[in-house]
Amino acid sequence: MGIRKRLGLKNPLCLALDLSERRQGMALLQELGPLCGMVKCGPVPFLSWGGEFLEICEQLELSVFLDLKWHDIPNTILETLSRLPSPAIRMVTLHAQGGAAMIAAARRSLDDSGPNPPALIAVTLLTHLTEEEVRDMGYRSREDGVARLGSVALSSGADGLVMSPGELSRSRELWGQEPFFVTPGIRPEGRPTGAGDDQLNAQSPQNALASGSDLLVVGRPIIAAVDPKQATLSLLAGINKQTQEPSRHKGVTS
Ligand code: C5P
Repeated sequence: MGIRKRLGLKNPLCLALDLSERRQGMALLQELGPLCGMVKCGPVPFLSWGGEFLEICEQLELSVFLDLKWHDIPNTILETLSRLPSPAIRMVTLHAQGGAAMIAAARRSLDDSGPNPPALIAVTLLTHLTEEEVRDMGYRSREDGVARLGSVALSSGADGLVMSPGELSRSRELWGQEPFFVTPGIRPEGRPTGAGDDQLNAQSPQNALASGSDLLVVGRPIIAAVDPKQATLSLLAGINKQTQEPSRHKGVTS
């Protein structure tokens, strides 16, 4: 079964609940989680109130994206992924820079966990990195880095990749419609939220979907909004409009 059917998400919005404060986080999770296709638990909530996060998601039947971006030796990754703490976890991330053997170990571990394992998603280059930083790391450009890291990850068993929205079109050209593409760096008008925003290549949800994104990861535009519910509903309205366009993301059937 293809990764999209396996995940069965009701919409492509993933709420990144990067909040350390338990009461605020739990209230937003309960109110907004059921509206979203997925909820993302990164290191900040995981280390602050992760047990309760996962418990609520189990109760409300929410799909959790556990975004801890692992990067370790294959044996440690194998052991880690055989100990996922909740059946609500439907997607996990690791860094493609960990290499082929690490990603293959993650694949084996997840496949051994049962017939419907969580999606294995590899981070290519983090979205805050500048071209200069990427060149200092030894890649010719962001495009070169994403192409190399993505190829290693997808040929080693990853179901998909994390990338910035600007890299989607080229990635669909390179790898076709099968891989599941996850994009942070989403801003309602395609513009960063203001001074200090570390998402350098932000795009609107509509543009990201049209370029081939499967999952839009949105944090601060919702959790820092004056009215987080209104922000969520307005993002969903834009997404609905875009997904009803016949031209969107041609050829995705699995
Ligand atoms: O607040 P904002 O919408 O920028 O949140 C984006 C989320 O996506 C954060 O939780 C961040 O950790 C995550 N992320 C990212 N860049 C990546 C991978 C994940 O911004 N390459």
